[in-house]
Amino acid sequence: MKEVIGIIGAGTMGAGIAQVAAQAGHQVILVDQNQAQLDLAKANLEIILNKLLSKEKITSDQKSSISSAIQYEINNTSLASCSLVIEAIVENLAIKHSVFSALEGIVSDTCILATNTSSLSIASIGSVLKNPSRIIGIHFFNPAPLMPLVEIIPAVQTSQKVIDNVMTLIGAWGKKAVLCKDTPGFIVNRVARPFYGEALRIFEEGIADFATIDWAMTTLGGFKMGPFTLMDYIGNDINYTVTESVFEAFYFDPRFKPSFTQKRHKEAGLLGRKTGKGYYDYQENAKTPIPNEDIKLGKYIFNRILAMLINEAYDALFMQVASREDIDTAMKFGVNYPKGLLEWSDEIGVENVLNTLISLFEEYGEDRYRPNPLLKRKVRELQMGN
Ligand code: NAI
Repeated sequence: MKEVIGIIGAGTMGAGIAQVAAQAGHQVILVDQNQAQLDLAKANLEIILNKLLSKEKITSDQKSSISSAIQYEINNTSLASCSLVIEAIVENLAIKHSVFSALEGIVSDTCILATNTSSLSIASIGSVLKNPSRIIGIHFFNPAPLMPLVEIIPAVQTSQKVIDNVMTLIGAWGKKAVLCKDTPGFIVNRVARPFYGEALRIFEEGIADFATIDWAMTTLGGFKMGPFTLMDYIGNDINYTVTESVFEAFYFDPRFKPSFTQKRHKEAGLLGRKTGKGYYDYQENAKTPIPNEDIKLGKYIFNRILAMLINEAYDALFMQVASREDIDTAMKFGVNYPKGLLEWSDEIGVENVLNTLISLFEEYGEDRYRPNPLLKRKVRELQMGN
């Protein structure tokens, strides 16, 4: 008999995580304080499972066992039998605190308490627990059933046993589990910032328009989506908020400075696909903008954004946020990058990356472009023949 998994919050993330756990053979108790949300989660799961059935990805037996594995409940008291509870409610520390402190009185002493937060510190969430050694971050990506990456984030209070159990469990669910430190943005939301920020900066300087920057990153760079297409897809409100929260959490480090262009798009309600207009127009009969396919310009754009991304990946390694392998895995499986950034830097030559950063730093004199010490060290070692 597999352990019973509890999920609190049946919204976008909670419903997806419940599906993942049920597909892995667990009994799942999905709780939401809003009955309509529970009904919606149940109805949506039925639609998803029917699609999987019609594509022959699951059998009808599997469909019924997944459906019947999930129990929908309005009250957290139904979570008593769980060995792991994953919280996926609104991103608000005070509300998460009240949920976790009440939860500790319901579950057993050995139950692991996890949060799917994307921007709050795991240490702060766990601070209300009587036994904070059982708190851990289990950060899924949206949509949880499709995205292979899960970031596992121990807090300073978390016990090694809890870390080991969660790493094994999430691996057994067929996910790529990477271990990372409890620092703002974890791996993906930290390292990916320049993909958006540097693209916006290039636009703001008048170097190229949205379509040209997207063309450079997709056609020359091999990314599945260009930065502006991706920001429109994510939503400029959500993407801007993540950038702003990472910027504030890093004590206003200029590397993460948000962009006025994105802020104004957000303020104007030009959020992207969901509002029909963002950087691009998604309405019927809208004209597709034509990029300037000048190879020299395209290479400049791609090299500049890639160098900034690699610098950020080096910083995550330098500050021991995660291992080299996990940083590369995270970017490949959390945001579909064509290559891991650290392996990519070896491929194109770390000297070239450093030279790009040095010339940006010299040109602008801004701290944002400072090359990471570990990158500099690596180049020095190579030059000394180590
Ligand atoms: P959502 O707004 O879709 O769903 C939240 C659900 O929690 C709602 O159904 C709400 O009724 C319920 N809820 C709120 N307070 C509750 C309480 N006290 N008890 C029980 N249920 C309660 O939110 P979403 O997008 O699923 O996000 C949930 C968490 O996951 C947040 O911490 C967010 O930062 C994180 N996250 C979100 C991602 C995304 O792309 N949406 C990606 C990764 C993490």
